[in-house]
Amino acid sequence: METSTRWNDFLRRWPQRPWIIAHRGASGLVPENTLTAFVLAAEQGADFVELDLRITSDGHLVVLHDATLERTTDGRGFVHEHTLAELQRLDAGFTFTLDRGTTYPFRGLGLRIPTFEEVVACVPPHVGINAEVKSVPWDPADRQRGQAIAERLVAFVRRHPTLRERLLVSSFDHVVLDTIRQLDPAIPLALCTVPLRPLPEQLHQVVEHGYDAFHPMDVGFDEHGAAVVTSAHLHGLLVNVWTVDVPERAVELAALGVDGIITDYPDATRRAIERAFGPQRPAGLVATS
Ligand code: G3P
Ligand code: MG
Repeated sequence: METSTRWNDFLRRWPQRPWIIAHRGASGLVPENTLTAFVLAAEQGADFVELDLRITSDGHLVVLHDATLERTTDGRGFVHEHTLAELQRLDAGFTFTLDRGTTYPFRGLGLRIPTFEEVVACVPPHVGINAEVKSVPWDPADRQRGQAIAERLVAFVRRHPTLRERLLVSSFDHVVLDTIRQLDPAIPLALCTVPLRPLPEQLHQVVEHGYDAFHPMDVGFDEHGAAVVTSAHLHGLLVNVWTVDVPERAVELAALGVDGIITDYPDATRRAIERAFGPQRPAGLVATS
C-alpha cells in the first residue's frame, strides 16, 4: 500500500523505525519544553522532538504544555492572558525536581519558555519536529486559540520553507488539523487520541479524515495493536504511540511494528530498541517513489 506522498521525504531521511520522538524534549531528565530539553534530546539521538504550541495575548507562538503557568514555572494564570515579554521573564525550570521536591536543580538557571522560532533554530536540522497544536475541542474559546495557532504556524512555515522537510503537526482537535490541511495541504498531519473508544475506532477516525499519522495513547495495544498497525500501514499511515517511558514496553511496541515511540526518555528508549533489534532498528514503510 502506498504511503502518503507527504511522507516520502521523511521516510527517506529517517528510514529506520520506530522513530524515537522526544516528548516535550528529553523531559524525563530536564525541564520539559525548554531549549535545554530539546538540545539534550537531539544529543541523545532522538529522531524527532515533540513540543506543545500555545499562543500569547499578543499573538506569538510559544512552547508550553499546560494552559496555565503554575505547574512548570514561577508564573500564575493562563498563558493566553500574558504577553510574550511577560512570559519570557518567567523561570521555566522553577518546579522541576527529580527527588520529589527535595531539590530544584534548574531553579534560577535562566531557563525560559521558548518561542516556536527559538526551538526551530536550536534543534539541529537532522532532527524532525512534531509540533502539537494545543486546542480543547469542547471549549469554543480554546478552539479559537487553536485555530489562531494553526494559522500562525502555517504562516511560519511559509516564511521558513526548509522547516517543511522536518515538520509533522499533530493535535487532539480535528478541526484545527482540517484548518491546516486547507491552508497548506502539503504539511503532514497526525491526530492524537485518547482511549475513550477502542483503538480500531480511533484509527477509523484518522482514516476518515485523511490524515497521515495516528498518535494514540498506549492503551489497547495488547489486544488490538498488531491488527491496528497492519491496518494503518495498509492505509499508508504511520502509528506513533505516546507516552512510553518503560524501555521494555517500547521494545514490545516496536515488535508490533509501530512507527514512532513518543517518550520522555529518548536515550534509554533508543538504547533498548537498538539492543533488541540492532543499531539499524527495523526498517519500516518505504517511500513510494
Ligand atoms: O503528542 C503526544 C502527546 O504529547 C499528547 O499528550 O498531553 O503530553 O501533549 P500531551
Ligand atoms: Mg504534546
